[in-house]
Amino acid sequence: MSDSAISELSARRVWDSRGNPTVEVEVKLAGGAMGRAIAPAGASRGTREAIDLRDGGSLLEGRNVMQAVTNVNALIAPALIGMDACGQQDVDNLIKALDGTPLKSKLGGNAAVATSMAVLHAAAAAEQVPLWQHIAKLSGQKPSLPLPEIQIFGGGAHAGRRVDVQDFMVMVPGAESFDEVLEITSEIYRAAGAIMKQKSSNVGVADEGGWWPVFDNNEQALETLLQAIEQAGETPGDRVVISLDIAASEFGDNGRYRLALEDRDLSRDEMIKLLGTWIDNYPIVSIEDPLAEDDPEGVIAFTQEFGDRIQIIGDDYLVTNENLVSQAADDGACNAVLIKVNQSGTVSESIACLASARERGYRCVVSARSGETEDVTISHLAVGLDAGQLKVGSFSRSERMAKWNECLRIADHASSICFVKGDPLAGTWWARQQKEEIK
Ligand code: PGA
Ligand code: ZN
Repeated sequence: MSDSAISELSARRVWDSRGNPTVEVEVKLAGGAMGRAIAPAGASRGTREAIDLRDGGSLLEGRNVMQAVTNVNALIAPALIGMDACGQQDVDNLIKALDGTPLKSKLGGNAAVATSMAVLHAAAAAEQVPLWQHIAKLSGQKPSLPLPEIQIFGGGAHAGRRVDVQDFMVMVPGAESFDEVLEITSEIYRAAGAIMKQKSSNVGVADEGGWWPVFDNNEQALETLLQAIEQAGETPGDRVVISLDIAASEFGDNGRYRLALEDRDLSRDEMIKLLGTWIDNYPIVSIEDPLAEDDPEGVIAFTQEFGDRIQIIGDDYLVTNENLVSQAADDGACNAVLIKVNQSGTVSESIACLASARERGYRCVVSARSGETEDVTISHLAVGLDAGQLKVGSFSRSERMAKWNECLRIADHASSICFVKGDPLAGTWWARQQKEEIK
């Protein structure tokens, strides 16, 4: 057996940031190296993403994962033992073949992704290189530090649907370093908290750490965000811009959109028009899932109208699926893809999706889920894949901060890795405005 051959592989049940059970996998290699990873979990999930296998029944509201844990121990482990952990593609191909279903419903996407990522960690340990470096070697990319997208207010499925829009975020493409992005964002996050406190003393945080919204409509959230940016000493639209995840699949149905907070029912065209008003009135540089996943007509029309001004990210619409990205590129839908490893179920499928997205001229954003843990694999993926952008939620709660902090460690340990600054936003109004200012 070579040193990097898998000698032991097992799963256990651990708990995520919502207190829900999830799957952790530990891998040991013949030479003594080890790897460990935990599956995250989404709340606003696409219908075409890998199935998060849950036990059902009354215990833990049906969310237990003992079947997924058993699948790792009884089905995946015996098949992978003896395989070379450095052959990620072969390992992932075998997981895929063992499952044999389109959405990994037999083994569970949670069982698959925890195994795939644990093997990735073990291989890096065997090679005695940091994880980002191992990923860069696998993908053939030149590592870089991503531009963060950081949530200030949570909404949608992450905040009891208190507002319709799921993520009100900021990006700081005008910062000189990753560290500076975090410093500026911290000021904005705390300014937003102070404004909320003035309005109501009882402010908490939503699932991804952003402030729990106490607004009457979505525009009020946008206005408050502008105010917070200004209170932090920044001019909105200059170094700091706004990014939204509408997560429209959550309130869209067959081309109709229900804004619950305002008791309004919009047609596809009215929804596009509303988003257009926001783009005209606020410094919004990026919108994710503007229309629902069951409304390709809407997504295409929206991309046609706004694709040369802003970044349009497909999350539920593309579910980290290479084929869906190809189809979207043919259709002219979206100009960026969200990469969530557990949507595809394996590291290799995520890398393949990112590679083909890039080939078709799509921007890429590596993303966490709303249910997260101390696992920081995605920070290394964003760096090692030269993804350009990273979205892990807000600027509070340790499952979020762990990811930002890991990027800081990577930056410190490898001075050769450059921060991408505003480069991923090339082609948007913000980049054009910067060019004008330089002239
Ligand atoms: P989810 O949300 O993890 O609940 O799907 C994250 C997102 O929509 O980007
Ligand atoms: Zn999303």
